[in-house]
Amino acid sequence: MKIRILGSAAGGGFPQWNCNAPLSRAVREGREGFLPRTQSSITASADGANWAIFNASPDLRQQIAASPMLQPRSRGPLRHSPIKSVVLTNADVDHIAGLINLREREPFTLYASTRVLTTLAANSIFNVLDPAVVPRRALPFNRPFALEGPDGALGLTIEAFPVAGKVALFLEEKGQADANFGTVEGDTIGLRIAADGAGQERACYYIPGCAAIDGALLDRVHGAGCLMFDGTVFTDNEMREAGVGEKTGARMGHLEISGPGGSLAGFQHLRAGRRIFVHINTTNPILEAGSAAERQVKAAGWEVGFDGMEIEL
Ligand code: MLT
Ligand code: MN
Repeated sequence: MKIRILGSAAGGGFPQWNCNAPLSRAVREGREGFLPRTQSSITASADGANWAIFNASPDLRQQIAASPMLQPRSRGPLRHSPIKSVVLTNADVDHIAGLINLREREPFTLYASTRVLTTLAANSIFNVLDPAVVPRRALPFNRPFALEGPDGALGLTIEAFPVAGKVALFLEEKGQADANFGTVEGDTIGLRIAADGAGQERACYYIPGCAAIDGALLDRVHGAGCLMFDGTVFTDNEMREAGVGEKTGARMGHLEISGPGGSLAGFQHLRAGRRIFVHINTTNPILEAGSAAERQVKAAGWEVGFDGMEIEL
């Protein structure tokens, strides 16, 4: 199986359009050690010809332009695409807005939880993807199943599982702060992605949003070939410390990387082939090559995801 990170940044990208904090400024100025990053998405293929996209970011058009494997073949039919299916892990803007880029009556299969499908159905702009051309399928939880495109199975088996998280920002029930703003189980999911029949050592776990690590999650990802995990914030209150916002990582449904309850500590005993942070927010100091934060995550065996990073499992 081939995997490519299409976008390694969190919502807003890096730099975010209106952010002038030091990291955003540095990448905008093209300073050494800073890579621009588009918003959260990966793609995977078992055969190198047919691809599934996991999350459709607002930057999808740019991501396709940067990824030859997702473009029409030069000697192919007049209209076609190697993108055969799209799988969504939640209804956040950075994960669904890119669906709009895939209009033009090109068939593919769209998978999401029932809750996310309900959100898509309630927003008529997504009808640019006519369900007669782009069927919408509810993701089962905790059960492996074969991903299908319009021409049949893709050779990829995925398994979706709920993780701790939060309902999308624009769906929050403001009066329900104590009930996590109306979040229900399955609003945020993780995915196990593997070629059909591949064992755990060739599986990739893609979990771009996660608010907590529990024993069930540790057991699930144990021995994985690759773990791609929520790297939104290095410290829970970094947005406030940077003076760019009031929200903590926890308030947004994202677990911090550092600290005793963070993901470095939570996964410290994990056995996995590779571990890679994705969905990295514009305020996260791991975005600066050589920073203390970046050195700390590398010393703990983690890689900092970047756009165009490829993994073979
Ligand atoms: C998130 O991951 O928390 C969201 O993408 C935030 C947002 O919608 O900007
Ligand atoms: Mn996001």
